[in-house]
Amino acid sequence: MIVNFYLNNVEVSYSIKPGEYLAETLRRHGVKSIKVGCNESSCGSCTLLIEGKPMMSCSVLTASLEGKHITTVEGIQEEAAKISKCFSKQGADQCGFCNVGFALVIYALKREYKNPTDEEINNYIVGNLCRCSGLQSHMKAIKEYLKEE
Ligand code: FES
Ligand code: FES
Repeated sequence: MIVNFYLNNVEVSYSIKPGEYLAETLRRHGVKSIKVGCNESSCGSCTLLIEGKPMMSCSVLTASLEGKHITTVEGIQEEAAKISKCFSKQGADQCGFCNVGFALVIYALKREYKNPTDEEINNYIVGNLCRCSGLQSHMKAIKEYLKEE
């Protein structure tokens, strides 16, 4: 079957298998920035934005996305570079496997909340895990990014 949607504001038309999930579709079409860790909605490494909201692409059926807007890290390059700088400065950047998922969720957080509390930040990023560190350095990096213009 064919599904049509917008990938980083460019209309695409992909041939998919019934029951295929978005992470698989995108990676098959060359979007290798999507990282698949657990493949069962538990780690957040495959996070992207659907209509501006963070979603785990390993658990979204591609067939359900007709006409929707999907944003990957390629669509937020300037902000992703700022987030990456904050991560490096605060020591949150280790193996880097979780970084893309974090960048997208943090980008969405900044657009949804003006001055989030620690609790709101924690709740927002709860689905994103990092195997290399606790989340203390991530929290510092997120707060630094949130302060940026
Ligand atoms: S790979 Fe999708 S949540 Fe882990
Ligand atoms: S830096 Fe390695 S999983 Fe987060």
